[in-house]
Amino acid sequence: MKKTRLLAALLAAGMMLSLAACGGSASSSSAASSSAAASSAASSAAASSAADSEAAFTTVNDGVLTMATNAQFPPYEYYEGEKIVGIDAEIVAAIAEKLGLDYVIEDMEFDSIITSVQTGKADIGLAGMTVTDERKEAVNFTESYATGKQVIIVTEDSAITSVDDLFAEGASHVIGVQRNTTGDLYTTWDLEDAGLATIDRYSKGAEAVQALKTGKVDCVVIDNEPAKAFVAEVDGLKILETEYIEEQYAAAMNKDNEALYEAVNDALKELIADGTVQSIIDKYISAE
Ligand code: ARG
Repeated sequence: MKKTRLLAALLAAGMMLSLAACGGSASSSSAASSSAAASSAASSAAASSAADSEAAFTTVNDGVLTMATNAQFPPYEYYEGEKIVGIDAEIVAAIAEKLGLDYVIEDMEFDSIITSVQTGKADIGLAGMTVTDERKEAVNFTESYATGKQVIIVTEDSAITSVDDLFAEGASHVIGVQRNTTGDLYTTWDLEDAGLATIDRYSKGAEAVQALKTGKVDCVVIDNEPAKAFVAEVDGLKILETEYIEEQYAAAMNKDNEALYEAVNDALKELIADGTVQSIIDKYISAE
């Protein structure tokens, strides 16, 4: 199955090369020679690819793409019964299929994902993870596959009505976040370090939202899609219209495994280009 797909791709690539070599001439003799060239290109490419596909890249466990995530982040990753589902779960499945690999998803604290990729325990961190300069020092990010926003959740009767209220002179809000997410990092740098807020860090976004409901924090700063999912579950909360910041999500990979990085990134780029990623996103997120 994997060989067939590979062969088809190589055939198409060989075909295009030989067509390019024909310089666009459409005579029947060049068509005949191009298909002969294509099939010989395909057989030699297939021969080397059979070797390549084993040797070209390595994964933590042979034949398996191991994904690290934190499945507390609907609709990107969350539990449906015992199973982790969501946008990232479907994207990893599509990447693995393209590379002829199986995949496993390992659930952990959001904190641990980068370490796990860095120390060679997981092949890919896929967790609605924002690309940041600091994280780039630890991991390689693939092409971005989605945009996120940090938004502010408040109670319906909150005195906080816009992001500016958090930055106002003399502000002293308690802000709930999921530990080590960008919601945590940005509010820590922008607000806590400036003496404008206290940050309350939770291991799950949903716990921060519960703390808001019970009045332990004044607002929660978190990504917009999980925010929508959490607010839908809890009465009396709303998302402010002004957002905190816009971000790009990408997969995190080990810096030393360049071959796997290239293979995964190429697969992801193809899945973006052919609309697969968008159709996965559309399954979970309805357009406004
Ligand atoms: N986008 C934010 C970040 O990268 C939050 C991601 C949280 N993801 C998760 N699976 N819990 O920091």
